[in-house]
Amino acid sequence: MTTRQHSSPIPDQARKRIEELREQINYHNYLYYALDTPEIPDAEYDRLLRELQELEQQYPELITPDSPARRVGATPLEAFSEVRHELPMLSLNNAFSDQEVFDFDRRVRERLGVEHVEYHAEPKLDGLAISLLYEQGQLVRGATRGDGSRGEDVTRNVRTISAIPLKLDGSGFPASMEVRGGACMTKEGFRQLNSAQEHRGLKSFANPRNAAAGSLRQQDPGITAQRPLTIYCYGIGAVKGGNLPDRHSAIMQKLRDWGLRISPKAQQVEGAQGCLDYYRIMAAERNQLPYEIDGIVYKVDKIAWQEQLGQLSRAPRWALAHKFPAQEEITRLLDVEWQVGRTGALTPVARLKPVSVGGVMVSNATLHNQDEIERKDIRIGDTIVVRRAGDVMPEVVSVVESRRPPGAPRPQLPDRCPVCDSEVVRLPGEKVARCSGGLYCPAQRREAIKHFASRRAMDIEGLGDKRVEQLGKKNLIHNVADLYYLRQEQLETL
Ligand code: IVH
Repeated sequence: MTTRQHSSPIPDQARKRIEELREQINYHNYLYYALDTPEIPDAEYDRLLRELQELEQQYPELITPDSPARRVGATPLEAFSEVRHELPMLSLNNAFSDQEVFDFDRRVRERLGVEHVEYHAEPKLDGLAISLLYEQGQLVRGATRGDGSRGEDVTRNVRTISAIPLKLDGSGFPASMEVRGGACMTKEGFRQLNSAQEHRGLKSFANPRNAAAGSLRQQDPGITAQRPLTIYCYGIGAVKGGNLPDRHSAIMQKLRDWGLRISPKAQQVEGAQGCLDYYRIMAAERNQLPYEIDGIVYKVDKIAWQEQLGQLSRAPRWALAHKFPAQEEITRLLDVEWQVGRTGALTPVARLKPVSVGGVMVSNATLHNQDEIERKDIRIGDTIVVRRAGDVMPEVVSVVESRRPPGAPRPQLPDRCPVCDSEVVRLPGEKVARCSGGLYCPAQRREAIKHFASRRAMDIEGLGDKRVEQLGKKNLIHNVADLYYLRQEQLETL
């Protein structure tokens, strides 16, 4: 990052861009924190914020106290009363590469003057940070993180979450203890909630984290109670009248003994290499987990060392969030094409301006069906959010409506099959429209042959989807029967 010579004038361009960025960030903050309905993925938000921070660093004269680059998180929503956190709820420094993890470990060891450090590695839950205050073992207060110092009192809502004990089990707990954790929704719970919301004509949520945040910040705890919320505890705040073990891992075990839910995946690891090994294992398991995680948190396990390391501004020096590659990005929807499947079903496929999502270039994504296009109100030319998770085809998640170009047209379901020109029909009660051409349609025929040869049907060795496409293109097969007339010489030409 460069720091400007103070003598040169500030270009109008920089001034204008700073204003633009502040306005955009404020708008996205409001959507995210107040309404729980973000429009853009985290990666895009981070880019806007970073650009503003860099410009402010370059032109410190333009810094204003109310700049969104100067504050984190949200101020409490007025509807809830305010809670002052006795110990601030900190945020975490992020790392995106192995090198940054090695650097973190080196800094920790240098500050402590030791050769080797044990870490507690935990999934970084994509949820909403909350604080639970237990007095004499009774849950007396639940609060959101808010801006880290002041949060919202959501006690009545928190009490409806069955994974949160109203009373601690066993004995030996401090007279007063603040437990911190992430409230979240399982992927399955999220899917069910969204389909129920749609069914009732209510808004659906962008992702499990927003669904969790929206559910916890309900005025009516009766609504929170119906939402599939859970919690994983990952730390403690202020403790009075009692002692806790001297290692983070042992404290987590205690919390578990007292009936609090902690991540079964958390593990003690050795040094930076241990952290990275754990990261790789969890990155591979990520899509199989019942809840969303967006990275791994490494924490120095010895509490005395944590205290010695302390914190710098809003983040502890003893912890690091190692983020997974983003699964969502934004790009432009160039066009919508319709693919014809085996049963004639027309599936809309989004042609996108190529974008790298978690390191893989994506230029096509599924839009599922016509209803989804309408429900998400997708138009050609829109800026859209695309998501790629695991090995399934990327999908268009949502639209950034504030970036819609004027006059952007709605994608049209064609009246005639784009492959064989037969009529397209949509039977009442069916979600999908279909080409009525049957096996006259080359696309349906090709898909039928693929299906016939596939493992689930005849399981013809060596005849995968690619080979069927090649044979079709060369006019060597037109139907299933043709497969049995293929000669070796013909196959050798492929
Ligand atoms: S520890 C002093 N541990 O990440 C450290 N945070 O940027 C404070 N988070 O919204 C947090 N999983 O809810 C910690 N295993 C974990 C976490 C975790 C998710 C969230 C937390 C907060 C954000 C901090």
